[in-house]
Amino acid sequence: MAKHRTATPPLTAKRSRAAAQTAPPAQVSAKEPARGDGWRRRHLLDLDDFSAAELELVMESTDAMKEVLAREVPRVPTLRGTTIVTLFYEASTRTRASFELAGKVLGADVINVSASGSSIEKGESLIDSVRTIQAIGADLLVLRHGASGAPYLAAREANMRIVNAGDGWHAHPTQALLDAYTIRSRLGDIRGLKIVIVGDISHSRVARSNLWALTTLGAEVVVCGPPTLLPAGLDGGGDANESDLPPVRVEHDLDRAIEGADVVMALRLQQERQQSGLLPSLREYSRLYQVNGERMARAKPSAIVLHPGPMNEGVEISAEVAGGTRSLIEEQVANGVAVRMAVLFLLLQGGKAK
Ligand code: CP
Repeated sequence: MAKHRTATPPLTAKRSRAAAQTAPPAQVSAKEPARGDGWRRRHLLDLDDFSAAELELVMESTDAMKEVLAREVPRVPTLRGTTIVTLFYEASTRTRASFELAGKVLGADVINVSASGSSIEKGESLIDSVRTIQAIGADLLVLRHGASGAPYLAAREANMRIVNAGDGWHAHPTQALLDAYTIRSRLGDIRGLKIVIVGDISHSRVARSNLWALTTLGAEVVVCGPPTLLPAGLDGGGDANESDLPPVRVEHDLDRAIEGADVVMALRLQQERQQSGLLPSLREYSRLYQVNGERMARAKPSAIVLHPGPMNEGVEISAEVAGGTRSLIEEQVANGVAVRMAVLFLLLQGGKAK
């Protein structure tokens, strides 16, 4: 969110215990970028200002983390002595579980806090919860919140590192990083690949973060969905681009969009879109926008299918495609652990934070 980028002042907080550690990189892998050389970020809030080199650094670090996960005993002491807290105001399975595992594999203490069952139920504000978590000694907070911009507020108020695990419709940077990593693992260089993102782009933080990451990496991105679910002006022509997103090709016809695609990413259709009048009916939506076998026949023979989850099988994606040979949906989840290990490592052990 560009306005957040400019509204977030540089943070000059004291270095965390984690950043002060001098654990040798050999704890992770000989291939690992030495102490995350080139990493200059204090927080991970969005990918809107990431360079291709920074995205590449995360991917290279993820390669090293995959190597750790493949060991007989996938545990390293790289982040021993650091405390990571996950604070989730919204439901999650993949993101929270993979951050927890990522922290534990790297030797950190990980504490999970949910809105339900915590003092948030008694009316504690976000800022007070963040300050409380910092006061117990957390070095890094993984925050999911329903309000766009909440992680920026936390970053302004806290000295610890902040990772955005999804804020409103705004951003879900680690999801986009794992999506890019999964594409790269299967298809190699992302530059020039035709990547179709189909569904509710307007209300999708996953789509927003993917648009930034994939266009920065040089993909030809096509977004597809009904006009009511696409931000106006996203194609960069005609109307002003209301979304503050990079311009991409817009298609309303999925058969045409998918022609010759290398990657097809289906987004979860949130059922409330129908209630809010943005869709005539789920059946109509599925007829026009479901990623199914017939449509996938128009993509390249090597094309892959992604979905960030959770899925509505039979709505935005057919069961046949979701469970088929082109589907990398489970691989996305598995890669999520390695990507989040890389993010934790870079934030807590990387170069000088800005
Ligand atoms: N993709 C994703 O964010 O899934 P969860 O809501 O299960 O974390």
